[in-house]
Amino acid sequence: MTTKIVGPIFTGRSWDEYLKMFKLTREELKTRSFLDCGAGASSFTACLATGGGRVQAVDLLYDRDPLVLKSLCQEHLEALVKSLEPIKREFEWSYFRDLNHLKEHRSRSCQEFYQDYSQNPNRYQKGDLTRLPFADSEFDIVLSSHLLFIYDHRLDLDFHLQVLDEMLRVSGEEVRVYPLVKHAKKTSEFLKPAWQRMSMVAELELVKVNYQFRRGGNQMLVIRKS
Ligand SMILES: C[S@@+](CC[C@H](N)C(=O)[O-])C[C@H]1O[C@@H](n2cnc3c(N)ncnc32)[C@H](O)[C@@H]1O
Repeated sequence: MTTKIVGPIFTGRSWDEYLKMFKLTREELKTRSFLDCGAGASSFTACLATGGGRVQAVDLLYDRDPLVLKSLCQEHLEALVKSLEPIKREFEWSYFRDLNHLKEHRSRSCQEFYQDYSQNPNRYQKGDLTRLPFADSEFDIVLSSHLLFIYDHRLDLDFHLQVLDEMLRVSGEEVRVYPLVKHAKKTSEFLKPAWQRMSMVAELELVKVNYQFRRGGNQMLVIRKS
């Protein structure tokens, strides 16, 4: 049986995946402030804040009870693993050995997120990315992982442009977006129009990163305030 997910997909990548996906350096983690947009059940905020870093996470679902989010994350992780089984050859198995390894790794992130979300709710702000509840330039680096450019069938171009505008508004330095491919090396149809629009107001660069799970997914988009 396949489980169909209704509403936002609530999953969580790990601290280590974030470091690699966004090519974050030790220096940046020590000296910059971060906003993780559509942070879901990622353990990035928990790990960075615990280590003394400055970070805030924002997500549409952060008004929910910790136990509700914990079970949503587990349910969505199960559904993800089931949906990947028949198409696993389309993915790169270098970071994860296999689906069991992926499940274990992401379950740990979910657990770390759950503990931090329960104990430090101030780090987790409910908000819609199209109207971020933050001041202009409030954070140095603004991140978005696995929301933009992968759900063309659910999130339209207008949504992508509004979110990119908002992320740039609240960043003092730059926005980083990962990944830029959907699956089987297919690029989102919104990347080109988004690139054209954002390059009128900022400097854009594609940067190679040392992480790849979706084939062809070894690049992040960096949007720098000019
Ligand atoms: C697939 S998850 C990715 C989570 C995390 N960034 C990661 O890479 O593991 C996408 C997240 O975006 C959130 N989301 C979707 N639409 C949103 C919106 N308009 N505003 C804020 N968060 C949103 C969902 O609730 C979900 O937690």
